[in-house]
Amino acid sequence: MKGTIHKCLHELIVKKYGKSKWEACLNSVNLATNHRFMPFEDVPEATSLNLVSNAVNILEIPAQQLFDEIGEYWCCVYAPKMYSFWYIGLKNSKDYILKLDRIHEMVGKHFNQAKPPRFEYQWMDENEKTLQVTYHSNRNLIGLFIGCVKGVGKYFNEELKIEKYSESKVMIHFP
Ligand code: HEM
Repeated sequence: MKGTIHKCLHELIVKKYGKSKWEACLNSVNLATNHRFMPFEDVPEATSLNLVSNAVNILEIPAQQLFDEIGEYWCCVYAPKMYSFWYIGLKNSKDYILKLDRIHEMVGKHFNQAKPPRFEYQWMDENEKTLQVTYHSNRNLIGLFIGCVKGVGKYFNEELKIEKYSESKVMIHFP
């Protein structure tokens, strides 16, 4: 997975839990405590997944809590500064969620090693308030997807109701 996700995790854990916790996370995947992830590098899949699952143990928090914290930090702090151009013209959560598939499609086109998730949309009502999103990724990180959807709601200060239907389907109710 692209190093940018790990760089975001690094910033979040140092800010919220302290440097020593982040160093323990790096140690747990056999990386030096001064290791720096570069946004464009390709990190081996096992390292990425172990880093997240070890962080849950090191920080002593439930996995979904870590996913929610990553989602909030990604959407509200990290992506607005790293990828501000994608935020241009977004008026609300709905705009952002509907743009997600295009964003990740572009990521896949630009970086041939990347395997970004893809998203399929289906409106459930005429008023376009309830959207079913199907998450496609071999990594099965639906919890992280849900955390990021919550982060989108936080960014726009909108209350989203999110229901998980399966390991690939989520229903989002917009205000
Ligand atoms: C400007 C905004 C965003 C950019 C530039 C972006 C870019 C990326 C990149 C580069 C990856 C790594 C892909 C790889 O290496 O294979 C990734 C992964 C991911 N993104 Fe985004 N993303 C953005 C916003 C979001 C949002 C708002 C959500 C959800 C609501 C989301 C959901 C995910 C998930 C769940 C993954 C984990 C990988 C997986 O499930 O396979 N992203 N994204």
